[in-house]
Amino acid sequence: MSLVIVSMAALDSWVRIGPLDLFSPGKAMPFQIQERQVILIRLPESLPKSRRGIKVDSSPWVASGPEVIAMDRLCYHAGGDLAEGDIEDLASRAVLRCPVHGFAFDLESGEQLLQERSGRVVGAGVECRQRIHQTRVQEEHVWVCLNKSSEEYASDQWQTSKRGWTA
Ligand code: FES
Repeated sequence: MSLVIVSMAALDSWVRIGPLDLFSPGKAMPFQIQERQVILIRLPESLPKSRRGIKVDSSPWVASGPEVIAMDRLCYHAGGDLAEGDIEDLASRAVLRCPVHGFAFDLESGEQLLQERSGRVVGAGVECRQRIHQTRVQEEHVWVCLNKSSEEYASDQWQTSKRGWTA
C-alpha cells in the first residue's frame, strides 16, 4: 500500500487530509502527517454507534458524523505495518488486527485487547497500546490533530530517527 505524505497547510495543529470519499469503510490507509506515520480508518457503518465516537486521553472530544480513526502505523510489538491489518469484531468491540502476530488493538483507545478462554475481553494495559490521534470530519473532509501528549505510548518507539521514521 502506498504512503501518502500530507504536506497541506495546518490550521492550528489540525491538518486537512482529504475528502471523506477517499476512505473506504473498514480499510486502513497509511499517511505521513508532519513527522508521524499514522493510519486512518473510516469506521464501517455496521459498527454500533456507541463504538463510533472516540476520546483521546482524558479529552471529552467525541467525533460526530462518519467517524475516522487515526492510530500510529507501526505495531508497538515488533513494528508490524497496521496499514495491512483487518478490522474485526472481537466480542462486540471493534479492533484492528496486526497482520504479523495477530495482536488486536481497540479502535477507541489503541490498547491491545486479549480474549480469555471464557470469551471475556480484557485490556493488556497502558504499556501495550498504540497512540491514537484526534480526528474530525468537517464539510466532508477529514482532519487530523496529532496527539502530542507527553504520556508514553508503546508505539512511540517506532517513531524515532533510530528506526528511520523521521519527518
Ligand atoms: S508486530 Fe504486531 S503483533 Fe507482532
